[in-house]
Amino acid sequence: MNTEPRILVVDDEPDMVENCVRILRRAGYRCMSTTDPHRALALLESERPDLLLTDLKMPEIDGLTLLRRAHELDAALPVVVITAFATIESAVAAIKDGAFDYLPKNFSVDELTLVVERALRQRRLALENRNLREQLQTTLALDNVIGRSPAMAQVFELVKKAARSEANILVMGESGTGKELIARAVHANSPRAAQAFVPVDCASLPENLLESELFGHEKGAFTGAVRTKPGLMEVAGGGTLFLDEIGDLPVSLQVKLLRALQERQIRRVGGTALIDVDVRVVSATNRNLREAAAKGQFREELYYRINVIEIRLPPLRERAGDIRLLAHAFLKRYGQGRVLGYDDTALATLEAYAWPGNVRELQNVVERACALAEGDTITHRDLPDHILTDGARARTPSVPEVAVDSHLAGTTDLGLKEAKDRWMAVLEASYLKELLDRHHGNISAAAKAAGIDRKTFHRLVNKHQIRA
Ligand SMILES: Nc1ncnc2c1ncn2[C@@H]1O[C@H](COP(=O)(O)OP(=O)(O)OP(=O)(O)O)[C@@H](O)[C@H]1O
Ligand SMILES: [Mg+2]
Repeated sequence: MNTEPRILVVDDEPDMVENCVRILRRAGYRCMSTTDPHRALALLESERPDLLLTDLKMPEIDGLTLLRRAHELDAALPVVVITAFATIESAVAAIKDGAFDYLPKNFSVDELTLVVERALRQRRLALENRNLREQLQTTLALDNVIGRSPAMAQVFELVKKAARSEANILVMGESGTGKELIARAVHANSPRAAQAFVPVDCASLPENLLESELFGHEKGAFTGAVRTKPGLMEVAGGGTLFLDEIGDLPVSLQVKLLRALQERQIRRVGGTALIDVDVRVVSATNRNLREAAAKGQFREELYYRINVIEIRLPPLRERAGDIRLLAHAFLKRYGQGRVLGYDDTALATLEAYAWPGNVRELQNVVERACALAEGDTITHRDLPDHILTDGARARTPSVPEVAVDSHLAGTTDLGLKEAKDRWMAVLEASYLKELLDRHHGNISAAAKAAGIDRKTFHRLVNKHQIRA
């Protein structure tokens, strides 16, 4: 039996089909081709190819329909779509629908053979891991990410689809919404699950250290570089590189990272050799990168490169019903079989609170309450003061209306989204200020109480120019 991979090429333009087939045959692949999408459907069914290369725009049956039908027949079939530059948006839509990658119409020979090579390698891996992956999808899946709200159900759907593709993913959301958890879920549900998941915190290191962390360095590249060290991009080879707080990546490294992602090659600090890297990048940020890019604070090309698929995590206060669900899950974790439930007031208070520190804050509050609870039930006495007062205020809304009324002036001139952003900023700032005051300006203590890390707290304080 011939086990050479077989490629099905579909395009309504005969020249295009011929061109692709010629290039691919020369590279040693076996090809089938057709200019008729109906015939393509029949071939998919009878021939079971290993790769589908298809035009997006065709009469009667378009490439997206073909893609979906192909995945119904064979979920592990990589599909590469060819698209005119003007319809790059439809290419992105195709990736969201599970296409492996896309090629512009004017592709070069190298671009075509490279993408085919990568797609077929993924096919091999996918087949090898199929059993494992099916298990992961049904058992591990998104089990440790808790949520049943419609907002989170949408996130789960997107995570599952996005994970299948090779597309780079940007996870956006306020602090503590579970960005890292989602990044790990993407990896665990992807064909790369058997390889490494490598996190890099772009905010925690000074520029030069971060550079050698990412790209590695040669022995003697700088004082202290006593031996050659591979960078995390190499370590993540075959797996997923998680770039946390990517909004804080210094501009010079943004340029280097962009080049590395484009060329799939890196150079170690102090080195000359180019090293191949094969990573899927998942990034996370709590900043509005689109805005930062528009203002020139973040490289626009890099923004588009890392954000092929965007996953937005809603703040906890917008996840109807999830506070209760999470509160019980955390109780199970921290109650150690001793603390078993909440009384009604405690639960109502948790549900009324706005959770600026999101899931992490809730997790900390429940852990603390479990430690303080006298009997087997958490009562309002086990909750921190600010949650009690803010929760009470939320139930009697007249109080803050007076206090922040002046900030509201003029917001009716704005769209709902901008008005909401303005409101949230005001609330966030007043929350931080109050917390800082209560902790006499001690950022570590205030951050701990908010359930966010010190660094994030510090950044927010700077953003709102708050002084204790
Ligand atoms: N949906 C969820 N279900 C269960 N646990 C969650 C969920 N979301 C977040 N958590 C937990 O909350 C904590 C914070 O999550 P994570 O670190 O992923 O947030 P983040 O968005 O990366 O925060 P930051 O912006 O501060 O880095 C973690 O301990 C995580 O396990
Ligand atoms: Mg994080």
